[in-house]
Amino acid sequence: MVSMLRTLAILNQKGGVGKTTVTLGLASAAADANRRVLVVDLDPQAATTWVLGIDPAGLEGSVADVLSTKNAPLSRIVQRSSWSDYIDVLPSTSAVQELESGRSKRLRRALTAVESDYEAVLIDCPPSLGNLTRSALTASRHAIVVVEPSALGLRGIGGVADLIDDVWDATNPDLELAGVVLNRVPAVSREAERRIDELARIVGREAIWSPAVPQRVVFNQAVGERRSIHSFGSRAAEPIAVFDSLWRKVRGTIRSATG
Ligand SMILES: Nc1ncnc2c1ncn2[C@@H]1O[C@H](COP(=O)(O)OP(=O)(O)OP(=O)(O)O)[C@@H](O)[C@H]1O
Ligand SMILES: [Mg+2]
Repeated sequence: MVSMLRTLAILNQKGGVGKTTVTLGLASAAADANRRVLVVDLDPQAATTWVLGIDPAGLEGSVADVLSTKNAPLSRIVQRSSWSDYIDVLPSTSAVQELESGRSKRLRRALTAVESDYEAVLIDCPPSLGNLTRSALTASRHAIVVVEPSALGLRGIGGVADLIDDVWDATNPDLELAGVVLNRVPAVSREAERRIDELARIVGREAIWSPAVPQRVVFNQAVGERRSIHSFGSRAAEPIAVFDSLWRKVRGTIRSATG
């Protein structure tokens, strides 16, 4: 059976490259367009959960329960984000950390039951290529890799590609690399251009999504204030336009999968 057509894993083993920023930006754009999304936080740091306005003390459960028990009651664990009625959250806690072991199909099984309630399911991965990211890839039709076009930013991209191949081979023959989102791209930089060319040789030019995400302080501010970029209005006009475009790419990707 073909499933998980609307589910995307947002990943890179490198820390701090913008996985969470991209996940939150896409959720913000979806809600602004009145489209329902589920954000799955797979990172034990639970930053995404916190920024989306979920109080860790009030949780009925977390994605750790989904990974550690069969048939965890998703309807009670999923919370509504304070950002918007269009955003639901499968929250994370530090307990997720201890679950770096097998059972990579549990998340997929749990999400299968709710996927059709949403326009998209966005899984924010931790900065590792361990079992948590493997679970996310096993549960997803599409992978989005977030990359910073710097020398250090490209290190490890081969490992990410290998893991996608490995999961495709072992547990999920429907998995595809939907695209690479470039983050913190300076307006003019020979160095960044060279790195983007290098990346194109690895993943193919058509896999690199446009527009790239520029470096802007409003992304930091939004996280600190637990707000969506769209709530900043004209002050965040450019970041909003970028994520509206990237959300359209996500919808196009899902549409071509669902036919
Ligand atoms: N384009 C940007 N402009 C300005 N700040 C940014 C941008 N992208 C990310 N940041 C900031 O950089 C920090 C790291 O970004 P983020 O948390 O999205 O990365 P991550 O890949 O999810 O990190 P981790 O690997 O720890 O999960 C955050 O404080 C975020 O606000
Ligand atoms: Mg993150």
